[in-house]
Amino acid sequence: MSDLIIDTMSEKDIDPVLSIEQASFKNPWSRISFLNELSNKYSHNFVLKLENSFETYQIIAYLCFRLITDEIHILKIAVNPEQRSKGMAFKFINHCLNTFCEQKIKSAILEVRQSNTAGIVLYEKIGFGIEAQIPNYYSDTHEDLILMRKTF
Ligand SMILES: CC(C)(COP(=O)(O)OP(=O)(O)OC[C@H]1O[C@@H](n2cnc3c(N)ncnc32)[C@H](O)[C@@H]1OP(=O)(O)O)[C@@H](O)C(=O)NCCC(=O)NCCS
Repeated sequence: MSDLIIDTMSEKDIDPVLSIEQASFKNPWSRISFLNELSNKYSHNFVLKLENSFETYQIIAYLCFRLITDEIHILKIAVNPEQRSKGMAFKFINHCLNTFCEQKIKSAILEVRQSNTAGIVLYEKIGFGIEAQIPNYYSDTHEDLILMRKTF
């Protein structure tokens, strides 16, 4: 990750994060949702920055999760569509999980839509397994919710 930097997300990052969010999700989080997340005491939010020329950085991905006792709840990961399929999400999540694993984390869980093949395959590659499938969970598309867990 020589030209990549992982940083804690702050309020000044919200505009570029929102633009990736809106390009990535049918029901994107609003600015207020991100601000709420930044102020939540259980929340950990990171941005992945790519170094351009002249030592300037562009935010190309972000990751939001909560740490509740010994369990990580992954809420969001998204990569700028132009930077996908280059291993960015895989490296980003693994790096963040490995950093937090030093804090005696027992497992990480997340929810993903059944139609989100990219998300499900990515999570399986990181070591998550399907724990439950809740039929017809999402009212907008009537698709199933997939609950995935990785134990450490
Ligand atoms: C899901 C997402 C984060 C993946 O990001 P990415 O940087 O493209 O993923 P990576 O390049 O690190 O891919 C890692 C692995 O995931 C799988 N994968 C990634 N994109 C895939 C796709 N479109 N179809 C199938 N598998 C895919 C592959 O196994 C890949 O490993 P490989 O390239 O060695 O085969 C990205 O597609 C995205 O931002 N989607 C919109 C937001 C979203 O759905 N987030 C997840 C739910 S919160």
